[in-house]
Amino acid sequence: MAQGRRTSLGRSTTLAPMPRPATTAGPGAFITIDGPDGGGKTTQAERLGEHLFARGVRVLLTREPGGTWLGERLRDVLLARTSTAAAPTDPLTDALLFNAARRQLVEEVVRPALDAGTTVICARFADSTLAYQGHGAGVPLERLHALAQVATDGLTPDLTILLDLPVETGLARKAPGDVTRFEAEFDLGFHRRVREGFLAIARADRDRVAVIDATAGIDEVAAAVASVTDDRLSPGIEPESARVRSTR
Ligand code: TYD
Repeated sequence: MAQGRRTSLGRSTTLAPMPRPATTAGPGAFITIDGPDGGGKTTQAERLGEHLFARGVRVLLTREPGGTWLGERLRDVLLARTSTAAAPTDPLTDALLFNAARRQLVEEVVRPALDAGTTVICARFADSTLAYQGHGAGVPLERLHALAQVATDGLTPDLTILLDLPVETGLARKAPGDVTRFEAEFDLGFHRRVREGFLAIARADRDRVAVIDATAGIDEVAAAVASVTDDRLSPGIEPESARVRSTR
């Protein structure tokens, strides 16, 4: 684990002005940032990490699919554009692989961190499978709930920030080199169903999911994310030994 300040989710990172022994104060908070493509989840996860760090909260940043050795390899497979010779990937196969990556992340990274009193911020989590493979691609939601239950052993975020924006706006924001299979090979109708799926999840679980308009500028969205986190999780988040780590 490297020490010093980094802002990418792509490396194991510690943000620690003064390494101190951890004085664990019980379970950390589990925060997920989710939503349609192009909403700025990675940037906002980092900004929220910095906000909490400034309040003295020990934070771990991670992402799905990814966050572990296995998860990053599954990410490469899942997001790669399909060769023209290949059959389209079956959506349930996608769901199984996303959940395999999720299982590894929960066991290896998320639960140990929470148990050690660290607040975990994860870019995407189980809501993404419900929205993309369920609402978007048509896998029955009950099957996906059952898979998520197996993969997470019932671990549910304390807070989910849903960065919402129109599909066209989100897709237009993606740099050409950053376009995944989901953006390249699924049509606008799919992405609209994904967005509506996320909004339906939020409506059904208002205590957990906060919807934030992601069309505003980065600073404005970051302020809204920080404010909703402070409102909803204080005093659940215990400021103590300040550290931000990130993992892939
Ligand atoms: P993301 O990490 O947002 O990609 P990027 O950082 O390049 O924008 O997400 C990768 C893609 O994977 C995204 O299009 C959504 C999709 N996805 C699913 O379809 N199901 C899932 O369960 C997850 C976690 C992601």
